[in-house]
Amino acid sequence: MTSVLMVCLGNICRSPLAEAAMRDAATKAGKDVKVDSAGTAAYHIGKAPDPRSQEIAMEYAQIDISHYKARQVQASDFDKFDYIFAMDDQNYRDLLAVRPDGSPAELALLCVNGVSVADPYYGNIQDFKDVWQQVSNACNMIVRNL
Ligand code: 4NP
Repeated sequence: MTSVLMVCLGNICRSPLAEAAMRDAATKAGKDVKVDSAGTAAYHIGKAPDPRSQEIAMEYAQIDISHYKARQVQASDFDKFDYIFAMDDQNYRDLLAVRPDGSPAELALLCVNGVSVADPYYGNIQDFKDVWQQVSNACNMIVRNL
């Protein structure tokens, strides 16, 4: 089974939505994909996703993400996942710093048409809707190629 880890900074806004979007895309495509998410920072370990992410996942994919719990990415994730997707350039650089030499995981920036996923934490609900559109478009493309 293919495994995918979605990574942002706090693991409470973007990557839980990317995790839900990947689950949704895989289910709709009839593909078995193991999905998880994590943050590069430790600020929010153990916390549920931002209420705005919870609302959007329910509205757009009817997925309850209220039980997701934020965790920090570990070097060992690079042995456990086939693909690790960073939401933005800083996340990508932080992941490069954690990646053990010779790790098998494929690390990539999640982007559509060259645009990565901007941090919506200090934004409004429209910013979270925009995140959903981006991550769901990207996940549908990724799933097609798995
Ligand atoms: P995320 O958003 O990386 O998409 O989960 C953020 C969450 C928290 C913070 C920044 C971004 N923060 O500074 O606490």
